[in-house]
Amino acid sequence: MKLDSQISAVVTGGASGLGEATARALRAAGVKVAIFDFNSEQGEAVAADIGATFCQVDVTSDDSVDAGLAKARATQGQERILVNCAGIVMGAKTAGRDRKTGEIRHFPIDTFAKVIAVNLVGSFRCLAKSAAGMMTVEPLDDGERGVVVNTASVAAVEGQVGQAAYSASKAGIVGLTLPAARDLADEGIRVLSILPGIMETAMMAGMSEAVRDGLAASVNFPKRLGAPAEYASLVLELCRNGYMNGEAIRLDGAIRMQPR
Ligand SMILES: NC(=O)c1ccc[n+]([C@@H]2O[C@H](COP(=O)([O-])OP(=O)(O)OC[C@H]3O[C@@H](n4cnc5c(N)ncnc54)[C@H](O)[C@@H]3O)[C@@H](O)[C@H]2O)c1
Repeated sequence: MKLDSQISAVVTGGASGLGEATARALRAAGVKVAIFDFNSEQGEAVAADIGATFCQVDVTSDDSVDAGLAKARATQGQERILVNCAGIVMGAKTAGRDRKTGEIRHFPIDTFAKVIAVNLVGSFRCLAKSAAGMMTVEPLDDGERGVVVNTASVAAVEGQVGQAAYSASKAGIVGLTLPAARDLADEGIRVLSILPGIMETAMMAGMSEAVRDGLAASVNFPKRLGAPAEYASLVLELCRNGYMNGEAIRLDGAIRMQPR
């Protein structure tokens, strides 16, 4: 797909981190962008800065996603690109002992369900609804109607201690990538996913310098955290490269996560 001002995109989680970098890169390529995020303060600020449309959307809600898509399409036309970046990380051991009291606790099931609801079901909700919209527009010259890029994680493959919910949500995204691409192939809509390693975003901001240095040292090469702009660059290549479809790609400096 040729990226220019004829193309509209929706980026979920676009108020921060990987989504923000993607929204910025798509705008820099001339693409019209709608940012979907429930953080309206940051989302409005990014949108104003780059000339995008902000839609306050909670990806766990059908009504909210429908309203966001209606606003985005009314403002900038039917999106041909969807990038799913909205996500949360909440960790706990499957079952474990409190270090101080020795009390045995299991992973709170509502927390597990919440992580799945945002990361997995939320991504699929946006994918399915966006693809249905893409099917209403004429194909471009090469027969393509649209492209969807989801964000999984290397935790889909090498989940660490405490990551049962997060890893399950991200493995779900990897799992649906090929069948969704197959479902949408006749309509000329491609589906891809990226598995980032450790990226320099707000999600990592809470960590101490020592922990971040340790993480950086565990990357093969280059020995640093990934830049959101590197993620965005891959998204743009996946949009442009019409032969990429049904694949989940690692972007991780060859890191292979250890148990903890
Ligand atoms: N940062 C990393 O190292 C890393 C690694 C692998 C995968 N990822 C994945 O990349 C994606 C982006 O992460 P990030 O690091 O940019 O995090 P981030 O916290 O900077 O951005 C995530 C954005 O998603 C939004 N969001 C969360 N729940 C939402 C909901 N229900 N509805 C709408 N918006 C919601 C947040 O408000 C935030 O703006 C996530 O799916 C994350 O799991 C991140």
